[in-house]
Amino acid sequence: MDEKKKFVLITGASSGIGRKIAIGLSATYNVVLNGRNFEKIIATKEKCSEINEQIIFIKDLCDINELEEQFSEFIRENNIEISHFVHCAGYMKMVPLKMTTVETINTTFTINIISAALILKILINRKLNNAALKSAVLISSNISNFGAKALSIYGASKAGLDGLMRSLAIELAPKIRINSILPGAVKTEMTESIFDNNETVQRMEATYPLGLGNTNDIYEMVEFLLSEKARWITGQQFTIDGGRTINISG
Ligand SMILES: NC(=O)c1ccc[n+]([C@@H]2O[C@H](COP(=O)([O-])OP(=O)(O)OC[C@H]3O[C@@H](n4cnc5c(N)ncnc54)[C@H](OP(=O)(O)O)[C@@H]3O)[C@@H](O)[C@H]2O)c1
Repeated sequence: MDEKKKFVLITGASSGIGRKIAIGLSATYNVVLNGRNFEKIIATKEKCSEINEQIIFIKDLCDINELEEQFSEFIRENNIEISHFVHCAGYMKMVPLKMTTVETINTTFTINIISAALILKILINRKLNNAALKSAVLISSNISNFGAKALSIYGASKAGLDGLMRSLAIELAPKIRINSILPGAVKTEMTESIFDNNETVQRMEATYPLGLGNTNDIYEMVEFLLSEKARWITGQQFTIDGGRTINISG
């Protein structure tokens, strides 16, 4: 039987941190780029390395009932195996609890956790993916272990994502490693409104001992965790936030 080509699946590859991860990993791996927006995914693909292959998987991760079937079909149709997975798609709505709707809670949890769990379920299916999955990285947030106003639902979803990661690290060992990365504030489409305000940026800068970071700071850790260099690391949260969350200076 012909050996199938192996790919890294990256959700959220159409923007911000996920785009940087996709472009960076494309120098070493074939990549599957997931997002909803075709033009934005094409813009990512155009920046990827020509040495390896890129395949596009357009899919709204909120369509949770169709996700398993459509993603399975995608793997079969393309005759590929997914050896690594990065869940970077995310949804953040800053809203105080008193103004939160069921729709916001559902959307946040569906994109941030449920879709990751269902994708992993497919990737560990031997018939579909031939036990190819070796390592996964889930992009969480540094709010996961802390708290912030108007971010209770987002924070709960990221804490849940890290809980999923820890139990799966045990359930899927020793063949599959899974870890999460908890970024601090990085300028992307998601945080545009925060970064657009100079006063807020100055206030934030003062609380980051190493200053504000960028998408490459997150990519470097993803690359390491997916690689064999991290072969003895699983079930861990890695906070990459320039020291923001350990800073208790007044
Ligand atoms: N930026 C930060 O400061 C920061 C800090 C901590 C954690 N994070 C986390 O880092 C990850 C990446 O965020 P980012 O800052 O790079 O944000 P971004 O630029 O807004 O990118 C978000 C990505 O998620 C995808 N996405 C959103 N809803 C989706 C849906 N329903 N179906 C499929 N894909 C969907 C978007 O794809 P389309 O728009 O193409 O649909 C986009 O590719 C997120 O998980 C976020 O929570 C970010």
